[in-house]
Amino acid sequence: MIDRSNLNVLSRREERKFVDEHPKSAEMYARAKKSLLGGVPMNWMRKWAGAFPVFVARAKGAHFTDVDGREYVDLCLGDTGAMTGHSPDVVADAIAKRVREGITLMLPTEDSIWVADELRQRFGLPYWQFALTATDANRFAIRIAREITQRSKILVYNYCYHGTVDESFAALDYGGGHDGIVGPRRGNIGPPVNPAETTRVVEFNDLNALEDALKHSDVAVVLAEPAMTNVGIILPDAGYWKAARELTLKYGALLIADETHTICVGPGGCTREWMLEPDFVVFGKPIGSGIPGSTYGCTEEVAERISARIELEDCDVGGVGGTLAGNALSLAAMRSTLENVLTAKAFETMIPLATRWADGVSGEIKNHRLPWNVQQLGARAEYTFRENPPRNGGESAAAADFELERFLHLYALNRGVLLTPFHNMALMCPATTAADVDLHTRIFGAATGELAA
Ligand SMILES: Cc1ncc(COP(=O)(O)O)c(C=O)c1O
Repeated sequence: MIDRSNLNVLSRREERKFVDEHPKSAEMYARAKKSLLGGVPMNWMRKWAGAFPVFVARAKGAHFTDVDGREYVDLCLGDTGAMTGHSPDVVADAIAKRVREGITLMLPTEDSIWVADELRQRFGLPYWQFALTATDANRFAIRIAREITQRSKILVYNYCYHGTVDESFAALDYGGGHDGIVGPRRGNIGPPVNPAETTRVVEFNDLNALEDALKHSDVAVVLAEPAMTNVGIILPDAGYWKAARELTLKYGALLIADETHTICVGPGGCTREWMLEPDFVVFGKPIGSGIPGSTYGCTEEVAERISARIELEDCDVGGVGGTLAGNALSLAAMRSTLENVLTAKAFETMIPLATRWADGVSGEIKNHRLPWNVQQLGARAEYTFRENPPRNGGESAAAADFELERFLHLYALNRGVLLTPFHNMALMCPATTAADVDLHTRIFGAATGELAA
């Protein structure tokens, strides 16, 4: 078990080292505090391990350099936004060309047809629309689902993350010994209503709970990652999705497969790899190598049902869309990314590297007799602080250890490796190398060695 006083001493040492070695980031943070709320351009950048975030000078492939001239292996990759590697040359060229030829028009370009055809082939769904973020793609798919089912609620899994979709910031509260009551997730800022009004929440891998929730016949749509990736990696039990899909059909609910992170298993995400049959697929973040863009696709049946309900005169005020959605630049970035970077071939190197990472970390966990485990999902892998892999969000969240996680992240950062913040995840991009992975393994071995000493 971890000796907390040792952890405390080691953490203080790493915090001092970080401050000493990042004078320029420290100075920029002091400046930033005068004009940026909390000293950061976005709230959760405050949560990085260390007294302040590292300010970035430049990034390329699987590496970046900070303003102090320190170099890092990037295993966070913009939490999947840069799963393509940073600024792939071929995409940078396509973007530069498009930037000079018109960025946004509220009119289609031919790239949109190319991208939709490619998505149709990858995921097997016939019709596609575009948005700027995966959050928005989820929001729009939810609206469509509500409209065509004329039902009010959505269903999500406990401790899911699907972006800042209001309905999805709900969690089960087990306090007081009851079965789990839906309420705002801890940290939810200004929920518009109690999410219990909009959302049903069940634990992943629990078919009985799913059926009980769907039986109310008020769920328009189940919003799900095929495997959970935002609270540790949680894989579905064998047969879970087949049975869950049958339940959604039985009770008239639709299903959104949010493949924004699970695209890491292959070019058509889990939908393709596991032969899932969702009504919608959502995919954002790396689809344009980090240029804002996202997509949602739907079945023929959904397309017919929603088309029948939209009047031409009202189609701009339905709450679906955005001025910049489907803009020429985002589509050019998506085309180049799908054509050249996130290809089937790229996954052939990325996935074995994630296996190498998982094996390395597992080996060190065993060496130091820690009761932790490692899970892999395609090109990503993650360790959690429990003996066995979690089967649902509640279990995984219960094993979280904020202090320990911060120490391991800061230890890695101080030695040139960036992990995905807020959990212990590493993602491989086409430019990641075995040497990058092995560097992390050595650092992880040293950190766990000091912890176990
Ligand atoms: C599964 C999933 N869906 C959607 C999103 C939202 O993406 P964005 O923040 O780009 O809107 C995230 C973000 O982490 C995610 O993990």
